[in-house]
Amino acid sequence: TPRKSSQSVGVFNSSPGGMTSPLADALFSWYERHARVLPWRGHADPYAVWVSEIMLQQTRVETVIPYFLRWMERFPSIRALAEASEQEVLGVWEGLGYYSRARNLHRAARLLVSQNEGQLPRTHAGLERLPGIGRYTAGAIASIAFGQDEAALDANIRRVLARVFDVDLPARSPRGEARLWELAREVLPPGRAGDFNQALMDLGSAICTPHNPACLLCPINAFCRAYALGIQEQRPVLEAKAPTPHITVTAAIIHRDGLVLLARRPANGLLGGLWEFPGGKQEPGESLPQALA
Ligand code: ADE
Repeated sequence: TPRKSSQSVGVFNSSPGGMTSPLADALFSWYERHARVLPWRGHADPYAVWVSEIMLQQTRVETVIPYFLRWMERFPSIRALAEASEQEVLGVWEGLGYYSRARNLHRAARLLVSQNEGQLPRTHAGLERLPGIGRYTAGAIASIAFGQDEAALDANIRRVLARVFDVDLPARSPRGEARLWELAREVLPPGRAGDFNQALMDLGSAICTPHNPACLLCPINAFCRAYALGIQEQRPVLEAKAPTPHITVTAAIIHRDGLVLLARRPANGLLGGLWEFPGGKQEPGESLPQALA
């Protein structure tokens, strides 16, 4: 008998028109019990999801939580953020690093107030046009805040999918990326993308970890090709990272009549726009006093 579209087709198919899969069902029943309690989850305001996703780029959940709470208290809406000064915005961000993220949030808030009545766009394409929002972040906001069927491939989801589908292409290569995005779209249960993406993120963080993944406890191990082959530690395939650059810098504290000289770094680049004691990078063959001069 054909089902009416409103009829349930699976245990968690509570959303209108949603279709689940055995993998999604298994993941959701785990997520119902083990979802992390995070201050931006269940938040009614898409702005909160946006702020959290920007903070979570390059930064761990535990580090983000206090910054997120402080930020939302100080800038509770897109309008409040747009009205703040850049120095104040950077002040609340101070310590999180990658300051262009704060500057882009601020710029985007001002654009939204002047051009979009202070509202975030609801679509992936609209979101991706804002400063600081790339493919992943647009997918995360569209799915989590607006319930759109969009994939959001972050490092955790990349790892889970590379293992479940035994992707042997290097995960960060253009072809590997393309394959993983395609899989991330294919596995989405329509109507439940936001929960599904976040469940995969939590699974990647708690169970499907980079090293020694807890496969025996994994709710979707029956669907995992890499686990079946015993090669979960070899997925995702990662190419060697460029070594971390090591830079020696020097600085001087120059004062006169109770005043201290500070310099402002160029807006773009490392620690852009922040204030520092004047100094500079030591070039090959330079002594520190020469670098300072
Ligand atoms: N990392 C980035 N976004 C996240 C989210 N919504 N939940 C958990 N981890 C995340």
